[in-house]
Amino acid sequence: MIQTGDKPLSTYPHRRDREVERNRMKAVMNNLILHLHPAKVPAPALKFTYTWGLGGLATLLTLTLIGTGILLMFRYDASVERAYASVQYLETQVYFGSMLRSVHHWAGNLLLVVAFLHMIRVFVTGGYKQGRGINWLVGLGLLLLVVAFNFTGYLLPWDQLAYWAVTVATHLLSYIPLVGGGINNFLLAGPEVGQDALRNFYAIHVAVLPAAILAVMTYHFWRIRKDGGVSQPKRKERALKLTTIPHLVQIELVAAVTLLTTLFLWAMFVPAPLEALANPSQPPNPAKAAWYFLGLQEMLLHMHPLAALALPGIIFAGLALLPWWDAREDDIGVYFRSAIGERAALIAVALGVLLPPALVILDEFWVDFPGWLPWLPTLISNGFIPLALTLGGLTAIYVLFRRALRANHSEATLGLFLFLFVSLVTLTFIGVFFRGPNMALVWPFS
Ligand code: HEM
Repeated sequence: MIQTGDKPLSTYPHRRDREVERNRMKAVMNNLILHLHPAKVPAPALKFTYTWGLGGLATLLTLTLIGTGILLMFRYDASVERAYASVQYLETQVYFGSMLRSVHHWAGNLLLVVAFLHMIRVFVTGGYKQGRGINWLVGLGLLLLVVAFNFTGYLLPWDQLAYWAVTVATHLLSYIPLVGGGINNFLLAGPEVGQDALRNFYAIHVAVLPAAILAVMTYHFWRIRKDGGVSQPKRKERALKLTTIPHLVQIELVAAVTLLTTLFLWAMFVPAPLEALANPSQPPNPAKAAWYFLGLQEMLLHMHPLAALALPGIIFAGLALLPWWDAREDDIGVYFRSAIGERAALIAVALGVLLPPALVILDEFWVDFPGWLPWLPTLISNGFIPLALTLGGLTAIYVLFRRALRANHSEATLGLFLFLFVSLVTLTFIGVFFRGPNMALVWPFS
């Protein structure tokens, strides 16, 4: 219901004009909110601990990034000679320039984490079921856009960190069969990271991606409404419905203020990093990709590049097919599906934390397929064989859930993908903290 003020208007003309104006503003605001939300929502959908507000927080972070990004554009100079100096100028000479850059930097990193957590929330509550398959795919597209945003932004400060992380990552890209070389050529517009690459990254970062993410996000929201709102468990009786204003908006407002306060405080005390000016002839040791690619870079240390890229490709395809692979609908809206699902999830998390480090250590110090099978091409000994073993291991985990826990297909799928998500996080941790000079295993902070 749009409220335009129920109180009688003042009898004083000047006050009445102000009240009419205030009521009009309120009506416009309410209208805007009701374009984004339905007028009423089921009371259980308001429970914060169902969505944790993660989709809303991702939206707010995206808008913060666009706002701060527009301000940064007034000072940033996308040229190899001036980019670094323009960032230094912003940091030291512009009022709140350092703060502005820091908020943009941390909001970008946080958006990656929040979008990933939101995907996990949707996954563990079966939020892709009951006609929500297309929106799941749209969400995956959003996740890729968020990664692309972070990746293209990484190069812009033109410091050592930026230059070498992008050099390493574009090198990884070139291993993708058939299209990798083309993507690399398109991004770098040359054989290496230089002026043309910087111009391309800048154009993609400030024009292509914001337009794309706003369009895809709008569609994502429209689909949520079209699919009948946020998923809910099946109930025999109809749930009580409450008005969006004020019940939902109140929760969103508290979440938004908490997020922005935390982000600004963090940005105040932890400035965005800026290393020395990029030096193409002096690679750091170790030369690492950005943190969100370090799980992938870790796999490259253990497998032939084709296998190390095929594995995430296969897993991503599996994720995309999830709504059709796990179409059971009676467990929608229930965290972890059931008591058996909860047990499968616990085991999956434990396996995801313990198994990757064990395999990394085993491979580092003992396993040596190319040495054991010298007559085979490395594509087979170090590519096909580890890939086949990994896929076999994943199948075994699925079968373990089905047999040992008597899990149904949906619960076993939950366990399998949770294992993969946690493994990715564990591998990323190993890449960030446990890889030192020459990418050798080290103890962190030693
Ligand atoms: C910039 C990134 C994203 C934004 C801004 C966003 C925004 C939202 C919002 C506001 C909701 C409403 C409920 C909630 O807060 O959880 C939602 C629901 C949903 N999102 Fe996202 N999302 C993003 C990324 C993703 C990703 C990565 C996925 C999955 C791959 C995804 C899939 C879905 C699905 C299927 C729903 C409906 C869930 C349900 O009904 O329970 N979204 N999203």
